[in-house]
Amino acid sequence: MEGSDAGDEAARDDDATDPAARDPVAVAEAALDAVAAAAPEIRAGLPGRRRYLDDENPSGEDVLAADVYADELLETALGDLDGVGTYASEERESAVDAGEGSVSVAVDPLDGSSNLASNNPMGSIVAVYDGPLPASGRDLVAAGFVLYGPVTTMVAGVGAPADATVHEYLVTEEGDREQLERVRLPDDPTVYGFGGRVPDWPADFAAYVDEIEDELKLRYGGAMIADVSQVLSYGGVFAYPALESAPDGKLRLQFEGNPVAYLVEGAGGRSSDGARSLLDIEATGIHQRVPVHVGNAPLIERLETALDDVR
Ligand code: AHG
Ligand code: MN
Ligand code: MN
Ligand code: MN
Repeated sequence: MEGSDAGDEAARDDDATDPAARDPVAVAEAALDAVAAAAPEIRAGLPGRRRYLDDENPSGEDVLAADVYADELLETALGDLDGVGTYASEERESAVDAGEGSVSVAVDPLDGSSNLASNNPMGSIVAVYDGPLPASGRDLVAAGFVLYGPVTTMVAGVGAPADATVHEYLVTEEGDREQLERVRLPDDPTVYGFGGRVPDWPADFAAYVDEIEDELKLRYGGAMIADVSQVLSYGGVFAYPALESAPDGKLRLQFEGNPVAYLVEGAGGRSSDGARSLLDIEATGIHQRVPVHVGNAPLIERLETALDDVR
């Protein structure tokens, strides 16, 4: 009937304009588009921002001008989206209120930024959660990273972790993302890359490395997402493990561990803190650290067997 159609139409319009009511998956797609749209400007701004600022971030790391620049661009791009209510970043102590919306984004504006001095690859990571931060990886509705390599690409997935399919995208000069292949880990692993210093590895992890290094070849470049990209392309395992000097490792759960676990698991692999999927770790803070191991399932299963149950 005319009247009810008009009423339904008005209701639908209200939903469309009510940011808090927007479907989290639609918001997640918009967030991935916003990161892709910002990528060319981030990349263009790197050459003039290779200097360290006289500043430390919440993880106690030296901050590059490029870290702050990327963070400001991404906060503007993501914070303005309808449905995004919270923006958090490696470079900010606490989350920023981004208006109404049930969706929260946690961002590593530049992952591997120390590679800027040596002109090696680095990237930008976004984790999109349906709910407040800090959040469990099970609350992810999307994750992605941009890789500033010879080609600017994005690897991303949308949906609940269990249903996610992961694709690679070309990021054009205009900041559009053009879908390329679906990302699936090759069955036969080829590469490994482990962070930290060898003497600082706990004995059980060192024993695992002894096994692995006879089977795989070392590829470690100092930017997690560039090293994970090699694992996604060639099969293998990346880890920044627990260290004797840092039992929780170096990488942060909200904007490094969870999104990378989402993507590698979505590509048919596994993630682990040494005992369980990173997505099952209880979130206690925006900057909480976690030992990160991701890659082919058999290699992660062998890792969990190798690490003492004591963990
Ligand atoms: P970020 O640049 O965002 O602080 O991340 C750096 C991390 C990660 O990208 C990489 O795997 C790791 O630091 C490298 O650490 P080392 O320099 O100790 O190898
Ligand atoms: Mn950093
Ligand atoms: Mn990082
Ligand atoms: Mn960073």
